[in-house]
Amino acid sequence: MEETILKTVKVTKIYNQGKHNEVVPVRDASLAVGRGMAVVLKGPSGSGKTTLLSMIGCQIKPTYGEIVVKGKPVSKLPEKFANLHKRQHIGFVFQQFHLVPDLSVLDNIMLPLLPWGMSPLERRRRAEELLTEFELTPRRQFKVRDLSGGEQQRVAISRSLINGCTVLLADEPTAHLDAQLTADFLGYMNDLKQKGYTILIASHDPVVCENAMVDRIIEMKNGEIVS
Ligand SMILES: Nc1ncnc2c1ncn2[C@@H]1O[C@H](COP(=O)(O)OP(=O)(O)OP(=O)(O)O)[C@@H](O)[C@H]1O
Ligand SMILES: [Mg+2]
Repeated sequence: MEETILKTVKVTKIYNQGKHNEVVPVRDASLAVGRGMAVVLKGPSGSGKTTLLSMIGCQIKPTYGEIVVKGKPVSKLPEKFANLHKRQHIGFVFQQFHLVPDLSVLDNIMLPLLPWGMSPLERRRRAEELLTEFELTPRRQFKVRDLSGGEQQRVAISRSLINGCTVLLADEPTAHLDAQLTADFLGYMNDLKQKGYTILIASHDPVVCENAMVDRIIEMKNGEIVS
């Protein structure tokens, strides 16, 4: 069995605990994802996919349970260390890319490195590597608003990788993409998987769930993992 990269142990999230408006979007969720695996979290709207993904990505803390990333328990880390962990180890791909339209391609890609205090030279080196990999070099000085959807998608993926992470989390990444861009996206994810990246995608898009690059589907219903 390959090394476990992402693990959740009986993770529960409770909002407004003990109050009349208490919500339990995720209950007792346990899963494990091995290195180089691509796994889809599937389930109807409101089943808790985003909440679980956000806990795994250290964006929110579980109320109970533990999250282990690359062997390190992270759910009880103080804010500062949780942020550091997130910045170093996790890449996020968002539904609507979350790019800054008036900044250049290059600046968008380098953006996550700004708080690191990394030298401009090293930032540039990493960005150039991604520009080449994702065939964006001729567009490097273009404002993101002037790019095609496909180019924006490649900028978003580049930006998510620039921290050197090997774990990628994507929340409904294809929800606003046409068939071609969806296929392209899955192609990029497959390439990354072949390179050893571990990928977890929350999606109810059948095209994603049925794609050959997906190793496993974890199904959620009413906040619980059902299969
Ligand atoms: N901050 C919050 N406070 C209270 N309830 C919340 C909060 N965040 C999420 N919820 C509730 O938790 C439930 C699960 O939400 P979540 O966003 O995880 O579902 P989802 O499976 O991602 O749905 P979708 O497919 O629509 O994106 C929903 O009923 C939602 O209203
Ligand atoms: Mg969601």
